[in-house]
Amino acid sequence: MSQSESPSATSPAQIGLIGLGTMGRNLALNIAEKGFSIAVYNRTSERTTSFHRDAGELADKIVPALDLGSFVKAIQSPRAIILMVPAGDAVDAQIEALRPLLDAEDLIIDAGNANYHDTNRRAANAEGGNGPRFMGIGVSGGEEGARHGPSIMGGGAQDAWNQVGHILEVISAKYEGEPCAAFLGAAGAGHLVKTVHNGIEYADMQMIAEVYGVMRDGLGMPSAEIGDVFAKLNEGILQSYLIEISAKVAGTNDPETGKPMLDIILDTAGQKGTGRWTAIEALMLGTPASAIEAAVAARNMSARLPERKTGETVFGAAPSQIREAEVSAETIEAALVAGKIICYAQGFDLILEAAKQYGWSMPLPEIARIWRNGCIIRSEMLNDMATALAEDPSRNLMLAPFFAGKLKETHQALRQLVSIAVLNGLPVPALSAALSYFDVMRTARSTANMLQGQRDFFGAHGFARTDKDGTDFHGPWALGN
Ligand code: 6PG
Repeated sequence: MSQSESPSATSPAQIGLIGLGTMGRNLALNIAEKGFSIAVYNRTSERTTSFHRDAGELADKIVPALDLGSFVKAIQSPRAIILMVPAGDAVDAQIEALRPLLDAEDLIIDAGNANYHDTNRRAANAEGGNGPRFMGIGVSGGEEGARHGPSIMGGGAQDAWNQVGHILEVISAKYEGEPCAAFLGAAGAGHLVKTVHNGIEYADMQMIAEVYGVMRDGLGMPSAEIGDVFAKLNEGILQSYLIEISAKVAGTNDPETGKPMLDIILDTAGQKGTGRWTAIEALMLGTPASAIEAAVAARNMSARLPERKTGETVFGAAPSQIREAEVSAETIEAALVAGKIICYAQGFDLILEAAKQYGWSMPLPEIARIWRNGCIIRSEMLNDMATALAEDPSRNLMLAPFFAGKLKETHQALRQLVSIAVLNGLPVPALSAALSYFDVMRTARSTANMLQGQRDFFGAHGFARTDKDGTDFHGPWALGN
C-alpha cells in the first residue's frame, strides 16, 4: 500500500499502536500525518473513539479498534505494533495478551521508557518462543516531540529495524534534513541509550537549577532577570532546549497571583526513574558518572522538604549573599559550559562501557547525531560532540581537542562559581561533582595509593608497586597492627 492510501477493510493499516495516553496519541497523529495508515487500540474504548473523532482531517488514516482481535486484524502482515503503555508490568501484560493473536513474523515494538534489562529479557523470550518478534525503542521529546518529531533510539534485530525503520525515520525530528532516528544494535541498546539520555537530562537540568540558585539566593536577582540571563545564554554556545525553556519558566508569571511562577512552584522534584537507572547502571558497570549521580541525589534531597526545613532551623540559613563581581554572567556561562561537557563525557563513557561489557557495537557518533534534535537534551553542542566522537569514539569526550580546548577556557570559571557558592552555603552538588571529576581526571598521581595501603593493611588485599611488575605486593605491616 502506498503511503498516501487510506486504510479500509481491503487495505489494512501499515502499523498499529496500543496506548492512547499523551505520548501514544501524539505519536499516532504524527504517524498518520506523515501519510502512514495506523490502527489504534486503547484499554478503555471511549478513549479510542474520542481520539478518532477528534483527529480531524487525519481521521481517515486512522483505524480505531475497540477490541484487540479486530485491532490485530486491521494491520497488514507481517504486523508491526507499537506499545505506548506505562513501563513495567503493563508491557508484559500487553505482550501476553497479544501473543496468541500474532504470527511469528509479527513485531512488537516497546516505545515506552523501559528498563533495558527488561527489554533484553523480552527480546530473549521472543527469540526463544514462536514469536512474535520484539524490539525496544527509546523515544524522546515529550508530547511536542511525539507529535511533530521525536528523537528515536532503536534496539533489536536488524530485520526488525528494516521492517519499521523507514516509518520511524520519517516521523522523527530532523537536523539539517537528517533523521534523528537510528538503529543502535542489540535488543536493549535503544532503551539503554534513552536511559542515559535521561541521566544526562537530569544533570543538565540540575546544573541549570544550581546556577539559578546562585542568581536567586546569592545575587538576589528576581525571576524575570534570571530569565533574561538564560535567554541571553541561549544565544551563545549553550543554545539548547533546556536553557530555552528555563528562560521561559523563569520569565513567566502565575496568572492567578501575578507572582513569578518559580516563586509559587514547590521545590520538591519528581522523577519517574530513568535518571536513577542511569546512576544504578553507572555503579554496576563501574563507570564514573558522578555529575549524573549527584543530580539524581539532588532530586532525592529535594523531596526531603520537612527535613530541610528543620535543618534550616537547627543550623540557620546559609549566609548566601555574594557580590556580582564574584559571579558574573560570563562566569555563569563558562561554568555551565564546563559542567555540560563533563556530564556528557560521563554519559557517553557509560554507553561505551556498557557496549564493551556486553559486546555490543554502539555507534557513539550516531547517538550524538540523533540527539541533536527532537529530544529533551537537544542542543547545538551535540553537533560538535558528534564530530568529536566520530574522530575517536573510544576517547573520553573531555580529551577531544575541541572540548579539551573549551575546558581549558572554562574550568576556572566552574572553579570560581563552585568555590564562591560553597563558601556561601549555596548548594551546587552537580556542578561540584563535575568539577571534582575534572580534577581527578587531570591528576596523573591520584590518592588511591592510600586506599590500596589501607586495604592491604586491614585485609592483605595486595597492591601493585610503581617500581616493579606484578599486582600482589604487601606492606611490612603485621596483620591488623
Ligand atoms: C524525554 C523525557 C521523558 C520524560 C522523562 C522525565 O526524553 O522525552 O526524558 O522521557 O520527561 O520521563 O522523567 P522524570 O523527570 O519524571 O524522571
